[in-house]
Amino acid sequence: MPEELVPVLSRAEIAQKVRGLARQISKDYAGKDLCIIGVLNGVFIFLADLVRELTISVQVDFIRLASYGSGTESSASVQTTKEIELDVKDRDVLIVEDIVDSGLTIDFLLKHLKQCHPKSVKVCAFIDKTERREVQVPIDYTGHVVESGFLVGYGLDFDERYRELPEIYHLKP
Ligand code: IMP
Ligand code: MG
Repeated sequence: MPEELVPVLSRAEIAQKVRGLARQISKDYAGKDLCIIGVLNGVFIFLADLVRELTISVQVDFIRLASYGSGTESSASVQTTKEIELDVKDRDVLIVEDIVDSGLTIDFLLKHLKQCHPKSVKVCAFIDKTERREVQVPIDYTGHVVESGFLVGYGLDFDERYRELPEIYHLKP
């Protein structure tokens, strides 16, 4: 049976949520020197939209982690495959993720970043998927909360497919 795509968020709903997040982040970091760290690959579309809605000046860098294989289950081990290149020591850092599921990735990242001695670290996730959380992680800025389901589109992939879809869908096998 072919995979089925069930709509979750439209382009307009996504845009509205991104604007809301950008407004809050711009307000909270006004007058500060914010360094945004995007988590590749999934975040590339959300991050591009988010930074263009900010009204503050920021620096942007990326980190890439290996956490997912080609399935739909989180793996327990997380490794860095591309390191941050900006010096974040004594800087305000905002980690930007597409989706938080088990929490293992964010948990790893928070510990990893602490070794660079930033002034502060907060987390922004476009989707907070709650049902399979294994580690309690702080999510300071959330675009949308879902309980369960595997989502694709707007940067989110299944086996590197569907990232290009402008809307977010629930992928049903
Ligand atoms: P966590 O470590 O389990 O929180 O997983 C975080 C990563 O798993 C995200 O950055 C995504 O790359 C991937 N992921 C988790 N849930 C989904 C989903 O529903 N669709 C696509 N990717 C997902
Ligand atoms: Mg990701």
